[in-house]
Amino acid sequence: MLTTRIADLLVSRLCLGTMYFGTSVPVKVSRDLLDAFVNAGGNFIDTANKYACWLPGAQGGESELLIGQWLRDRGHRHQLIISTKLGLAMPGVEAGLRAQQIEAQCEASLRRLGIDTIDVMYAHADDRSTPLEESLLAFSRLQKAGKIRHVGASNYAAWRLSAAAAVSRNLDVPGFVVAQVRHSLLRADPWIPQEFPIQVPATPELLDGCQSLGLRVLAYSPLLGGVYDRQDRPLPPSYRTSANERRLIAIRRMARERGVTANQLALAWLMSGRNEVIPVITASRTEQLYENVNSLAITMTRSDGDALDTVSD
Ligand SMILES: NC(=O)c1ccc[n+]([C@@H]2O[C@H](COP(=O)([O-])OP(=O)(O)OC[C@H]3O[C@@H](n4cnc5c(N)ncnc54)[C@H](OP(=O)(O)O)[C@@H]3O)[C@@H](O)[C@H]2O)c1
Repeated sequence: MLTTRIADLLVSRLCLGTMYFGTSVPVKVSRDLLDAFVNAGGNFIDTANKYACWLPGAQGGESELLIGQWLRDRGHRHQLIISTKLGLAMPGVEAGLRAQQIEAQCEASLRRLGIDTIDVMYAHADDRSTPLEESLLAFSRLQKAGKIRHVGASNYAAWRLSAAAAVSRNLDVPGFVVAQVRHSLLRADPWIPQEFPIQVPATPELLDGCQSLGLRVLAYSPLLGGVYDRQDRPLPPSYRTSANERRLIAIRRMARERGVTANQLALAWLMSGRNEVIPVITASRTEQLYENVNSLAITMTRSDGDALDTVSD
């Protein structure tokens, strides 16, 4: 699989999200998906401490525990880049990025994953009631202690990323190197309340801010549940715009012409030159995973990109 750089990490061009692994995606299927991703050359894995505590019978930590057991069984931890997140609420854990919360939740993730160092630890969402100084200093202490290598920001507004960059400069601590945002070819209308209020959708301003600050962008929910090809996946309310309907028609037509699936084209669009985003793909069946991985073989020319980009709101 193609690789790209995040700071000193060499990561695969696709990151594998594992939000439902070990809960709604059964253990055996989850492990098959992880194996298939690694066999296809993938090395970049995304999880979070709270995955997937909102499901009936779950309490959080299921995805990290499953990855930890899989790493022990396969013995290949050193070949992989493991990223996880902290800072959102889960049973027994309050939301927030106070220093004590960062330290405690990092230890809990290390324990569940069964590893000594987390390659990328994200703040899962901004905490505007805790000074950025306190959170960034706590992350930097974890870096100095060798418990995490890099820090990422998930669901931060552009102006907060900019403020965080200034704080880390002033404190002379490493600061954020990646930003994870909700991003797909179809665009959420930012004026409509988002389905999940903590989620921050990509906007030109946010992407521009990340580029200016040197933050690599990871796109979560890149397929919006597979909506590009699936009739059983209605658009979430904040995506129900006439421009998105036209984008869907355009991408489906281009997919037919090129003999690929529209889901694959949507991933290729995210990775194309103008975007260079790292999609956080996932799947609940290996066929879906292979289809998504094969998006890497698609060449998205400037005029292909233009044909999809110029559908305006
Ligand atoms: N930072 C954050 O706040 C945040 C938020 C959300 C997600 N994430 C991360 O991003 C990852 C992906 O998020 P997501 O689940 O929302 O992604 P998504 O790409 O929007 O949806 C994935 C779902 O789409 C369907 N799908 C995938 N490939 C398909 C294909 N080739 N054809 C048809 N359907 C396909 C599957 O649904 P079925 O299983 O129903 O078939 C799959 O579970 C998560 O695992 C997590 O690691 C991060």
